[in-house]
Amino acid sequence: MVKICCIGAGYVGGPTMAVIAVKCPAIEVVVVDISKPRIDAWNSDTLPIYEPGLDEVVKACRGKNLFFSTDVEKHVAEADIIFVSVNTPTKTRGLGAGKAADLTYWESAARMIADVSKSDKIVVEKSTVPVKTAEAIEKILTHNSKGINYQILSNPEFLAEGTAIDDLFKPDRVLIGGRETPEGRKAVQALKEVYANWVPEENIITTNLWSAELSKLAANAFLAQRISSVNAMSALCEATGANVSEVSYAIGKDSRIGPKFLNASVGFGGSCFQKDILNLVYICECNGLPEVANYWKQVIKINDYQKSRFVNRVVSSMFNTVSGKKVAVLGFAFKKDTGDTRETPAIDVCKGLLGDKAQVSIYDPQVTEDQIQRDLAMNKFDWDHPMHLQPTSPSSVKQELDYQKIFNNMQKPAFVFDGRNVVNADKLREIGFIVYSIGKPLDAWLKDMPAIA
Ligand code: UDX
Ligand code: ADP
Repeated sequence: MVKICCIGAGYVGGPTMAVIAVKCPAIEVVVVDISKPRIDAWNSDTLPIYEPGLDEVVKACRGKNLFFSTDVEKHVAEADIIFVSVNTPTKTRGLGAGKAADLTYWESAARMIADVSKSDKIVVEKSTVPVKTAEAIEKILTHNSKGINYQILSNPEFLAEGTAIDDLFKPDRVLIGGRETPEGRKAVQALKEVYANWVPEENIITTNLWSAELSKLAANAFLAQRISSVNAMSALCEATGANVSEVSYAIGKDSRIGPKFLNASVGFGGSCFQKDILNLVYICECNGLPEVANYWKQVIKINDYQKSRFVNRVVSSMFNTVSGKKVAVLGFAFKKDTGDTRETPAIDVCKGLLGDKAQVSIYDPQVTEDQIQRDLAMNKFDWDHPMHLQPTSPSSVKQELDYQKIFNNMQKPAFVFDGRNVVNADKLREIGFIVYSIGKPLDAWLKDMPAIA
């Protein structure tokens, strides 16, 4: 029986291993983590992450061929294939701070693998890492090898949160990068056989190590770039009276452009896009390519611009101040169907409003009050105002909002600012709201109170 061990029971490791286990009954999969509360949660009825369909998959194989454990060393020692999906946040201090990936967790995982291994291993990079990380890891392993043969593979994960299970069941492609040596090719083949249990062979791409590592960064950079492109257009739409949804539809009909990922929004969030682009920028700079670095940096600049543009729109439409005004924020996670708040644009928007002394109440069915408090207390920039944070209790906003009732209870003029273009703006206007939708023709009120970004 092939034994797989995955180091890191997070958003990537947990769902990915659950799907491998459910699709490959002949493989034993153990997910290990240093965090006991995380592992306890994976072994309980309340999993540590919310992901549609995940509960069913875990229930189907947990205790049979899927296990969660804190006994990291034992399971690493026993495994044939080790996936590493530990966190790789952006460095906050030292060389490359604010841009380069922090590989501390990766390095300690690699050293631990070298310490405890007694048989040959295939070590698979699952976390997004800078190009050439595999080489560094290979060095750590081979310099401490005690005669053991290690093959390093890069097998980046392309799942998106909220659709992780669907993405894993039917991936557009699986990408496996390895060394172009006989041993390297053998290792690639071994991993390919795991995925071939449910992924059609033509969807499994094999490349060299560096191509696989770079493809992950490139895919996320291209996706984020599409959002920044459409968000840049949304500002121009508001200025000219065009409608960004109509523009997106029109350009998306061009089969070379395609219709996906063209929704204007308050900005992209999530743990990957910004981190991976910063990483890409850093790699470009380190390789003497400042023009390329600046090109990708612009994707993040537009994203920041979009978030501040939204806040400025809110503030300017209420006579240039929201001080003491009550603002309800619906939704806090970085997208729907997830409780993940990493890099969510809601943090910047709420901080912007709190900075202008608004009384903010926040509701998200998937995010706890504690998490919101933690996110907003984070010191991204310094505060010179006291906070007026009043998170609502989850029961205070109903699934189906009665906008007429809400309108009746609000001070007039009453506003709705839609950062995702999800409300029926015309219906709300009929009730009497002034509505702002990103990239859509502006209500007369908003035209009279231009936002300065
Ligand atoms: C992303 C990639 O899609 C995935 O392939 C990779 O493995 C990890 O990073 P994720 O961050 O989970 O996945 O979510 P994604 O659906 O890509 O959305 C990212 C952000 O972009 C969200 O804040 C989302 O709301 C925003 N977005 C997405 C838009 O603003 N407009 C769009 O049209 C699409
Ligand atoms: P991702 O979104 O990339 O999956 P997460 O932060 O959700 O990232 O998960 C990473 C997990 O890796 C965390 O649960 C963390 O405790 C775990 N981890 C980090 N370093 C190690 C290590 N050396 N050994 C085992 N687990 C680790």
